[in-house]
Amino acid sequence: MSPILQIRHVTKRFDGLVANNDISFEVGEREILSVIGPNGAGKSTLFKMISSFLRTTSGEVLFRGARISNLSPHAVARKGVVRTFQETTIFRSMTVRENVIVAHHLRARASLAGFFFGSSAARADEAAFAASADEIIGFLGLGAIADELASNLPQGHLRALGMAIGLATNPTVLLLDEPFAGMNHDETMRMVALVRRLRDERGITVLLVEHDMPAVMKISDRIVVLNFGEKIAEGTPAEIQANERVIEAYLGSEDAAIGM
Ligand SMILES: Nc1ncnc2c1ncn2[C@@H]1O[C@H](COP(=O)(O)OP(=O)(O)OP(=O)(O)O)[C@@H](O)[C@H]1O
Ligand SMILES: [Mg+2]
Repeated sequence: MSPILQIRHVTKRFDGLVANNDISFEVGEREILSVIGPNGAGKSTLFKMISSFLRTTSGEVLFRGARISNLSPHAVARKGVVRTFQETTIFRSMTVRENVIVAHHLRARASLAGFFFGSSAARADEAAFAASADEIIGFLGLGAIADELASNLPQGHLRALGMAIGLATNPTVLLLDEPFAGMNHDETMRMVALVRRLRDERGITVLLVEHDMPAVMKISDRIVVLNFGEKIAEGTPAEIQANERVIEAYLGSEDAAIGM
């Protein structure tokens, strides 16, 4: 099967620091692939280049054979490669439902300005977006808080809202940077199940960065390991847990041991 994403010889330098050095790997359609590695290994930097939030110093990222690196985040999101939005892009004075509706406009015919100023094209989209927003809210189990103001939400619900906003753009590939961070075991297991359903029921390809090793081992089809900006391993969870270089990289790091 041809890959949906190809990361080809991607390098990122910040002045003297090489955050990613000649990283190459491929992601298959409907795969759940995790990128792991100790703090500062270059995981988030890699995700930012895949989503064009950062330019590559060299190398390129292809989505279905076409280059998506060094465009703009907006252009890449429109193609269907979406990084989950941080809290800051949530409109805190709007309700959960309004936030999800607004997020639909990223892919809309009508502009965001049209939404705010009430053009007729925007009104036509509006009904479809509202229906889709309710479907996403239902899918994520947020029905009970749909009319809550975002500013009133606890952290866990904000995370779920960020996910809803990402889904509203109808992604083909979803990039999740530490989706389980700060969650307790039960919350993490619920989120693991949800990410699986994104793939199983919606056919979304998922890339995730995570430090929660039990969750990573449970959820991933394959894992790519970065260390000091280098790719040091790639394989199935079982292969990664048995990999000498990976075990070495994690020894003496602050992260939890890789084996479990
Ligand atoms: N905008 C930037 N300017 C300069 N250096 C940066 C920038 N962004 C990241 N770095 C550096 O690049 C390296 C990789 O950072 P990155 O955030 O990608 O690591 P990470 O693997 O995501 O780490 P963590 O697990 O702690 O989130 C680090 O040394 C970091 O300090
Ligand atoms: Mg990071």
